[in-house]
Amino acid sequence: MTPVNAAADATGAGAAVVRAAPRLRGEPRLPGDKSISHRALLLALLAAGESRILDAGDGEDVRTTAAVIERLGATVERVRETSGRVEYRIWSPGREAILEPDSVLDCRNSGTTLRMTAGILAARPLFAVLDGDASLRRRPVARVVAPLTAMGATFAARRGGTLPPLAVSGSSPLRAIDYAVPVPSAQVKSAILLAALGAEGTTTVRETAVTRDHTERMLRARGVAVASTPWGDDERGQAVSVTGPARLLPAVERVPADPSAAAFWLVVGAAHPDAELILRGVGTNPSRRAIIDLLRRMGAAVEERTVGSTADADAGTGEPLADLVVHSSTLRGIDVSPAEVASAIDEIPVLCLAGAIASGTTTIRGAGELRHKESDRIAGIAAGLTALGASVTVEGDDITIHGGAHLTGAATDSLTDHRLALTFAVAGLIAAGETVVRDPDCASVSYPGFFSEIERVRA
Ligand code: S3P
Repeated sequence: MTPVNAAADATGAGAAVVRAAPRLRGEPRLPGDKSISHRALLLALLAAGESRILDAGDGEDVRTTAAVIERLGATVERVRETSGRVEYRIWSPGREAILEPDSVLDCRNSGTTLRMTAGILAARPLFAVLDGDASLRRRPVARVVAPLTAMGATFAARRGGTLPPLAVSGSSPLRAIDYAVPVPSAQVKSAILLAALGAEGTTTVRETAVTRDHTERMLRARGVAVASTPWGDDERGQAVSVTGPARLLPAVERVPADPSAAAFWLVVGAAHPDAELILRGVGTNPSRRAIIDLLRRMGAAVEERTVGSTADADAGTGEPLADLVVHSSTLRGIDVSPAEVASAIDEIPVLCLAGAIASGTTTIRGAGELRHKESDRIAGIAAGLTALGASVTVEGDDITIHGGAHLTGAATDSLTDHRLALTFAVAGLIAAGETVVRDPDCASVSYPGFFSEIERVRA
């Protein structure tokens, strides 16, 4: 076992040990936003010419997308690397010149890579197979296969077209569709919008809850008109339309710090009795900031100082940014609705940790999508928090956390899921004694260098 308060990172170890921290101070370094980094790479493939991506996330998932666009014909140069961030220079012959890959495209652990690349390939007259690791092979693909088939592409996948590997035979041009996404998903919305660039006419994607809108903003920033209008019951959802065929311009874009990575520090900073942590340049896009607002509703002292935007945020082409400061707080339980789950989908595991420490009960309703992530996150979070001394009950898709726990170090299992590894590692900073995180290496999927940041804030 690697005692991480001595090691630089947990790479190579089967388990990491995190000891309770008497005090937390400082500015943890954050990776570039994973969602935006994936999109910046994929859009660079679609835009003929040279794109530059500054401060991209350098986790395994984003590296996977970089490798995939290279296989599809882009030239990818890593210009410089700094703690968890990388600058890319990409040259691409453009969407119409995408190459047919001569072997399987390995999407490794990344659902975003697989689903969004499926959208791109659907609109090209070529054949490709998308595959990944054991976790990715358990993740549903029918959600992209159904709309992209309606647009005119042909797919085959394991288990009656539901699980990867996913074979795609694309077609050009595709048909435009008007499609209501059954379960809110930014990945599905994005796959359809990317396919719509190669369809004739206006494609509309309808979602019942607003999911992250990075694809829409980034397409606009690259010269594509994207319309978003409120839609659905009480207009809580939205309809997003793109008219094809559309050509993208290359762009230079700086990626904000990842709010989903910041979430681990926001929770531990608020829940720890002696903490003050500063998080610089975090993306506060309204469709990604729910975790900040949910934690504030729980009583967390999170200050937010706006520091501008990555581009023209007011025109909807860039991303708003803020420095966040979190202090030790007295947390109380809250009720989280299904729509809030959709907007904080990746932050729910660490929000459960906040619920365990808060007074009263935290209820998270309609969290079933968490079962289809890198692991069954409902089972994983319930097992890990219970081992640490929390009281968690699961009924159907609802999670109830009976708060007020005094967590005590124990063995937890990441299930090789980065968000669980990161949640249990920050729990270890609060829990008495030593917390063991089994299979910690997966943290580098979204947060390379995370375990050294733990050491920096403990000092
Ligand atoms: C993502 C969307 C979410 C999220 C994932 C990244 C994206 O997935 O869980 O980590 O970048 O669009 P779903 O769209 O499937 O909910």
